[in-house]
Amino acid sequence: MSAQVDSRPTEPGVRAPMVIAIDGPAASGKSSTAQWVAQELGYLHVDSGALYRAATAARLRRAAGPDEPWTEEQVLDAAQAVTLVPGERSFVPLLDGVDADEELRGSEVTRRVSQVARMEGVRAWVNAHVRSAATSRAVVVDGRDIGTAVFPEAQLKIFLVADPWERARRRLIQRLGRGPADDEIAEETDRLVQRDRLDATQTVQAPDAVLIDTTYLTQREQVERIAALARAVTHRASDASAIDAG
Ligand code: DC
Repeated sequence: MSAQVDSRPTEPGVRAPMVIAIDGPAASGKSSTAQWVAQELGYLHVDSGALYRAATAARLRRAAGPDEPWTEEQVLDAAQAVTLVPGERSFVPLLDGVDADEELRGSEVTRRVSQVARMEGVRAWVNAHVRSAATSRAVVVDGRDIGTAVFPEAQLKIFLVADPWERARRRLIQRLGRGPADDEIAEETDRLVQRDRLDATQTVQAPDAVLIDTTYLTQREQVERIAALARAVTHRASDASAIDAG
């Protein structure tokens, strides 16, 4: 684990900072929504998927060929080049000390990341980094299993879903900067459904998560709903501590 990451648990009796967990399938708008919610509330955003991508990119940098099979040990060894540092709005994974976001979002990383994300040791490595980030700051964390495996005690859990066609349409608008044709959306929908299948075992809705279907919501509406839920949780917590104190 990198020097920047402190994996010590919060001391007993010290109230842990607020955690909002946002889970959901690929292209459900988790990361951009989580970042916006964090900004609205003055929290920092942690994109757990970016850590899986950073581990994959680190291993790819050392790979002999594009389809070379990797062991968990090789991925964890390469992942030592990754550090997670707090930025202005989000914790940023650095690769050999450099923000490599474009490389992390590239097609080679996207093609291999689901396989890496199925390695138990890599999941433990990502989870330790994410938990460590949340020891000192209130955070909004997005991923697939944040409300179940990483922060089962999160004060607020959201599960974001949207119709696959709509997810594909939004992703293409973001990528192409224009309205896509139906044929393009159909191909992207097919790709997304395949990815959903690869990530299915990791993508789990917590029983106490609030389900938000964003198919017919704007991003602002999603953000406002989640921020309102966060305020409700905070009010309930401060009412409870006032009753305890009184
Ligand atoms: O959200 P994303 O596309 O950046 O995620 C990259 C990969 O990591 C994807 O295969 C799902 C996986 N992932 C996961 O298994 N658990 C998480 N908490 C976050 C991402």
